[in-house]
Amino acid sequence: MADFTSSTTAVPEVGTVPRHVAIIMDGNGRWATSRMLPRFAGHVRGVEAVRRVVEACYQRGVGHLTLFAFSSENWRRPPDEVALLMRLFIRTLQREITELASRGIRLRVVGDIQAFEPRLRDLILESTARAPANERMVLTVAANYGGRWDILQAVRRMLAEHAELAADPSAITEPAFEPYLAMAGLPEPDLFIRTGGEQRISNFLLWQLAYTELYFTETYWPDFDGAAIDAAFASYRQRERRFGRTSAQVGAGR
Ligand code: IPE
Ligand code: IPE
Ligand code: MG
Repeated sequence: MADFTSSTTAVPEVGTVPRHVAIIMDGNGRWATSRMLPRFAGHVRGVEAVRRVVEACYQRGVGHLTLFAFSSENWRRPPDEVALLMRLFIRTLQREITELASRGIRLRVVGDIQAFEPRLRDLILESTARAPANERMVLTVAANYGGRWDILQAVRRMLAEHAELAADPSAITEPAFEPYLAMAGLPEPDLFIRTGGEQRISNFLLWQLAYTELYFTETYWPDFDGAAIDAAFASYRQRERRFGRTSAQVGAGR
């Protein structure tokens, strides 16, 4: 039986450059400790890698770049590391936002920002309110984000708005549900990259990664750059995205 309700029914065009790239930026701490530096030095260098990778994706024509900056589980880290990460987040937003907007990069933040200190929350709201005149890329930063949080908040908001759905669960379809997810309106990621050697999702985009091509590299995030992006894209181009079909069907364009 055909499943016409699945969001992955339509096979997107496979271009040479992924339309949406989602990255778990991992390995800052190990980058630093391998150099006898404090973990925080790795986070500072990680911001430079963010700058390089945003630029590399922009130059290559990526339309959407989503970066995992702080997970809902990262509050479990020592309080001083969390505090330093928050300060770095504030400083980076203050420094970069004008430049991003002037280049046509729209900033979005997804995650439960209510948990952040008021100064950071206000800065996020102010930064994400700027809509560049000539939009070329959407940069989404996942901060205090968790894939499970996202699905639950979507369920809660959907039922709050449409209480009648509780009495008619069959009306809860993917198209009815998806607008409530934090990434609503964005294409699903074509390519997922995780640096730092771990091969796991760590509660990142659970719903949206259903058919994303996964790429893992040993490179620590502070060492990641345009050449590393090219290597990931080269791997992506080798993939055959079948979305449940057979190879012959995909070859015939069906
Ligand atoms: C990723 O690097 C940055 C954040 C999670 C904020 P880590 O800090 O997780 O670095 P490792 O994994 O300990 O090396
Ligand atoms: C995932 O990295 C979160 C971010 C990069 C923001 P972690 O380093 O927190 O993931 P685990 O704990 O190793 O799974
Ligand atoms: Mg880590």
